Amino acid sequence: MLLGPPGAGKGTQARKLSESFVVPDISTGDIFRNAVTQRTPMGMAAKRFIDRGELVPDDVTILIVEERLAQPDAAAGFILDGFPRTVHQATAFDAMLAAMDKTLDAVIEISVPRELLIQRLTQRATCTNCQASYHLTDAPPKTAGVCDRCGGTLVHRDDDSAKMVLHRLEVHDAQTAPLVSYYKGAGLLRTVDGTQPIDAVFSAIVAAAAPQGGRAA
Ligand code: AP5
Ligand code: MG
Ligand code: ZN
Repeated sequence: MLLGPPGAGKGTQARKLSESFVVPDISTGDIFRNAVTQRTPMGMAAKRFIDRGELVPDDVTILIVEERLAQPDAAAGFILDGFPRTVHQATAFDAMLAAMDKTLDAVIEISVPRELLIQRLTQRATCTNCQASYHLTDAPPKTAGVCDRCGGTLVHRDDDSAKMVLHRLEVHDAQTAPLVSYYKGAGLLRTVDGTQPIDAVFSAIVAAAAPQGGRAA
């Protein structure tokens, strides 16, 4: 499980971990954005919250994660990016794990100072097709405006405007930051310095997850 504020690099690292450990990366943000693109009823309901930088209600979010974890590709393990986001989601996830007879190997907190988060998000380009993210100066795509992974179109996410980023950070501090002590209390929390280059963060995550669980989480 990857924990961290908006712009910490959760999606970037989840994709690398997924490729390396051959398990799916499950991002509630990506699931919601895909549902918005497809204009499903769930997507349209979620859009109202995403556009305001608020969290989608817990009942909807918990249900989509439950459905996603029931798919066969998640049976051998998975990487979570952006879920849980509230203590209520975390306790619901504990119950899901128990029902599946699974345990969480590690919770990785990616730590990045606020000024850098704001800088990263206001300069981020996101693929409309596969949701991969790029940084216009620090991690640019090979061809401007085109996704290296899938050839999709890169856009600036609507919720990455300077104003919305500040609000998302406030929502994170109020509702998601308490999960750090929740998972510290459970003995699962490992903190990684997210200001390092992407590959160094990746190595730090693998090292932090490995000794206790032996597998990526
Ligand atoms: P979500 O999509 O999860 O957004 P977020 O948490 O705000 O996180 P981001 O995707 O903005 O950041 P990231 O940590 O993935 O960073 P990234 O790797 O892209 O959620 C969006 C919305 O959906 C929410 O506001 C809410 O409405 C809803 N939602 C989602 N989950 C929910 C839930 N569980 N409950 C309720 N509502 C939910 O990297 C950022 C940038 O930095 C990129 O440009 C990248 O290239 C660059 N970068 C990354 N790592 C490095 C590095 N080491 N060095 C230099 N640059 C780097
Ligand atoms: Mg993300
Ligand atoms: Zn793509």
